[in-house]
Amino acid sequence: MAEENHNGWYNKIFSAAYDPVMGLVEKNALAARRAHLLSPLKGKILELGCGTGVNFGFYREGAHVLALEPSDAMRTQAEDRLARGDIKARIRVVPWLLGDARFDAAVSDASLDAVVCTLVLCTVSDPAATLARLKRLLKPSGRLIALEHVRAKTEFGAIAQNLLNPMWRHLADGCQLNRDTHATITKAGFAAEEKSDFEFGLPFISGVYTHA
Ligand SMILES: C[S@@+](CC[C@H](N)C(=O)[O-])C[C@H]1O[C@@H](n2cnc3c(N)ncnc32)[C@H](O)[C@@H]1O
Repeated sequence: MAEENHNGWYNKIFSAAYDPVMGLVEKNALAARRAHLLSPLKGKILELGCGTGVNFGFYREGAHVLALEPSDAMRTQAEDRLARGDIKARIRVVPWLLGDARFDAAVSDASLDAVVCTLVLCTVSDPAATLARLKRLLKPSGRLIALEHVRAKTEFGAIAQNLLNPMWRHLADGCQLNRDTHATITKAGFAAEEKSDFEFGLPFISGVYTHA
């Protein structure tokens, strides 16, 4: 996967602004969906790009979560959230990326009960390769959870996203507005067990996927 820098000066600003900027969308569109998707998960869970740890409170007691977060500034906030308590699951936050030697030593193929991707497949440098790797890490019975903003379905919306994308990428720390993430997930060999589309300023998907 391409070389990634998650610790420039802008990452610090993005991280400090993240929770306040996302407050309205969390309250009105995402929090209930996070609860619905995450609270049933059991066993060994990998969360990709946990950011400030916004998902942590939704995991149930007994769940073991390994949360990857390469941005130091985001990870500090996630660790602070853990330190504040009131989290039922056992959660470890690490700076690794998929494919790091440390990650490969800690997580073997077909070992995970669930992988959680929330607002991160818009940002990873190679979503197809990321999803192929995540699929190998999941047990045959494992679930991929996705809560992501995606490419608009209308032609006008998709053109507007393409035009805005270069500026958006810079402002939103590498996030891409116009990815057809459901299509990328299914091309990687997953089937939707549950999927809904919704809009809140942007088009989103919320889904639970199994091995196809
Ligand atoms: C938009 S934030 C989303 C945070 C959180 N998942 C949420 O639902 O609010 C994207 C996060 O993914 C992280 N990230 C970016 N590229 C990544 C990668 N290749 N692997 C893991 N995390 C990554 C970023 O540092 C950032 O914290």
